[in-house]
Amino acid sequence: MKLIHITDTHLVEPGRSLYQTDPYERLAQCIDDVVANHSDAAFCVLTGDLAHKGEPAAYKGMATQLARLSMPVYPLPGNHDFRAPLVEAMPNAPRDENGFIQAVDRRPEGDFIFLDTLDEGVNGGKYCEKRTEWLKAKLDDAGDRPVYLFMHHPPFSIRIPCVDRIALMEPEKFAALVEGRRNIRHLFYGHVHRPVCGSWKGIPVSTMRGLNHQVPFDLTTVTPVPKSHEPPAYAVVFIDPDQVTVHFHDFLNHTTLVKVGDHFEYKR
Ligand SMILES: [Fe+2]
Repeated sequence: MKLIHITDTHLVEPGRSLYQTDPYERLAQCIDDVVANHSDAAFCVLTGDLAHKGEPAAYKGMATQLARLSMPVYPLPGNHDFRAPLVEAMPNAPRDENGFIQAVDRRPEGDFIFLDTLDEGVNGGKYCEKRTEWLKAKLDDAGDRPVYLFMHHPPFSIRIPCVDRIALMEPEKFAALVEGRRNIRHLFYGHVHRPVCGSWKGIPVSTMRGLNHQVPFDLTTVTPVPKSHEPPAYAVVFIDPDQVTVHFHDFLNHTTLVKVGDHFEYKR
């Protein structure tokens, strides 16, 4: 199966710019690319920071763009989001029994578990007792089935201090939930606006750039979070019985090399 991973769209009111780029236009261009090339994906997940300041108009704009997708969509919250306007604009967003934006999509390939790490008004992430109980029950219910996790805040350091200081708080509590569960095959996250992959507690992890602005490869700045304009990307993920393959797609880059005589030249 194929899935689409998008993160950190940071929408403001449609027509307004943010850090000198237009996040609504970026999302529209991203959805254009998904519709043209990956309409066969099983679902699309957005791992948070859907809006930049929780603006209702931003969520309405997001709903307009996501409605163009024929696949199920899971819009998860990040620290820049607020649940009420998100759910008002996108009433099909997943909800658990406590109102958190969480769900499980059980498929033949495994259990795809979508997590809400938002602590409203706070940059760092939170996974409270209620959410912990919910996830523990879902992991127990999964048994030995393959599990894939999706969340905004990473429960680990990526060695970039400006985002490490606002990662998931009390990560040891989240780690206790997943440790020893060898059926968790991958953790997809957002928040850091950079392509960062590796493994944590034996679980492969991945994220990529956001759609509007990025965080530069800066290993020293602590605050404020620096910004950059490296190219936006989304991920196309293939799930096979014995393999997970994650492609980062710079969807605005249309350059190719063409042969001209005895050498190659870039063509846009
Ligand atoms: Fe973000």
